[in-house]
Amino acid sequence: MYLPEINFLNSNNLPDVLRINAASEVSWPEEVIRSDLQDDSHDEISYIGAFATTTEAPLLGYAVLGRENRSGIIMALVVDKIYRRRGIGTQLLLAVSDCAMYLNMKRLRLRVRKSNAGAIALYHYMSFSGEKLWRGYYSNGEDAIVMSAKLPLRVGVKKS
Ligand SMILES: CC(C)(COP(=O)(O)OP(=O)(O)OC[C@H]1O[C@@H](n2cnc3c(N)ncnc32)[C@H](O)[C@@H]1OP(=O)(O)O)[C@@H](O)C(=O)NCCC(=O)NCCS
Repeated sequence: MYLPEINFLNSNNLPDVLRINAASEVSWPEEVIRSDLQDDSHDEISYIGAFATTTEAPLLGYAVLGRENRSGIIMALVVDKIYRRRGIGTQLLLAVSDCAMYLNMKRLRLRVRKSNAGAIALYHYMSFSGEKLWRGYYSNGEDAIVMSAKLPLRVGVKKS
């Protein structure tokens, strides 16, 4: 397990976020991230980053938390490929949980591709459960699983 430093991201982190986004399996259009991080008026969206605790402090991964009434929406969760399976996704979700509770949210929700077994395993481990299936939600026709969890998130038992 690796304990990263967690912090909010801003426009200074844009190149690193774009690099991790571009290399990920779930990449967003660049202009969306640019607009989110460069425009201060997007105060309903928080980018939360995990950094290595070295002097260079590279960004290892990030999560994007949105708001919908009293629920938080995890809009993105991405860890740099070479740093996966070291607990960084877990640490980011715990930080998202703290942040959402600070904002007085009661639950967290997310959508995940039905085929994304790794992410689904992580979300189950972090106390999310499947709510419903949105058939054909993604542009390639794949179904989305809507998952939700009561706050605070709890770290559970790993499935072997
Ligand atoms: C999903 C993702 C964020 C996980 O990040 P991570 O830092 O590797 O996750 P963690 O190390 O905290 O994983 C904690 C536990 O979750 C489960 N898990 C995580 N990734 C898994 C995988 N690929 N396969 C099976 N189980 C997995 C395991 O139980 C893992 O514990 P273990 O490594 O001791 O077995 C990362 O794989 C990623 O960025 N994927 C591409 C983007 C993506 O699909 N995001 C989700 C979109 S909804």
